[in-house]
Amino acid sequence: MIKKEAGSAQADSRVVSSKQKWTHNKLPGLVRRHLNHSYQKPVAGHSRAAFELMEAALQKRPCALVLDSFCGTGHSTARLAQRHPDHLVVGVDKSAHRLAKHAGGTAENYLLLQADCEDIWRLLLDAGISLDYHYLLYPNPWPKSRHIQRRIHGSAAFPWLVQLGGQIELRSNWRIYVEEFGQAMHLAGCCGVVAKLPQQPALTLFEEKYQRSGHELWRYRCNR
Ligand SMILES: C[S@@+](CC[C@H](N)C(=O)[O-])C[C@H]1O[C@@H](n2cnc3c(N)ncnc32)[C@H](O)[C@@H]1O
Repeated sequence: MIKKEAGSAQADSRVVSSKQKWTHNKLPGLVRRHLNHSYQKPVAGHSRAAFELMEAALQKRPCALVLDSFCGTGHSTARLAQRHPDHLVVGVDKSAHRLAKHAGGTAENYLLLQADCEDIWRLLLDAGISLDYHYLLYPNPWPKSRHIQRRIHGSAAFPWLVQLGGQIELRSNWRIYVEEFGQAMHLAGCCGVVAKLPQQPALTLFEEKYQRSGHELWRYRCNR
């Protein structure tokens, strides 16, 4: 459940509220099961078409890739393109509505795709393309315990994310989510670090909102 933050005049965002007070006890078993079975979800047609746009951009300008999964309006994608000028930065979100709100950016080395992230991960793997950096910024938290499989690390597509490699950075305003992600990555053989996000200019619109509302923000980082 998500509820309005109380007791702050500045509150204009919501804190994650969950009955789950620790990392999910079924997570290790779930992750092991997913790591040991290959997932066969068919790729949606619109995701395939989006992927072809990315392949065309890479053909025009061959370079290494940065993925901004669950990019929302693509605000972070435009900023990451400035941070990684020698890469193609690809923002992926399933919501056409969110992507249509993209405000534009000055960099030319980025691309926004309307697609399911899991499909793009799978297509990248099939094409033998790996990542230099993978940002997962404020994915939907799915705070109900029974929705564990909707969280990135509880999903059957999690092994694809692991196989794509790169320096992975996940951020959330729900500490348990980040700790669970770290636990799942550890089980997949990657030891990263969970820490409070230091004070810094917001990279995404959700981050900006959370900062304004005084939320604690958490990050996981792993260099593969
Ligand atoms: C909480 S928003 C965060 C957006 C952005 N990263 C930010 O911080 O401002 C989560 C985003 O994930 C997108 N999303 C959820 N599931 C997705 C999926 N399977 N594939 C692609 N996008 C997805 C939603 O459309 C939404 O824009």
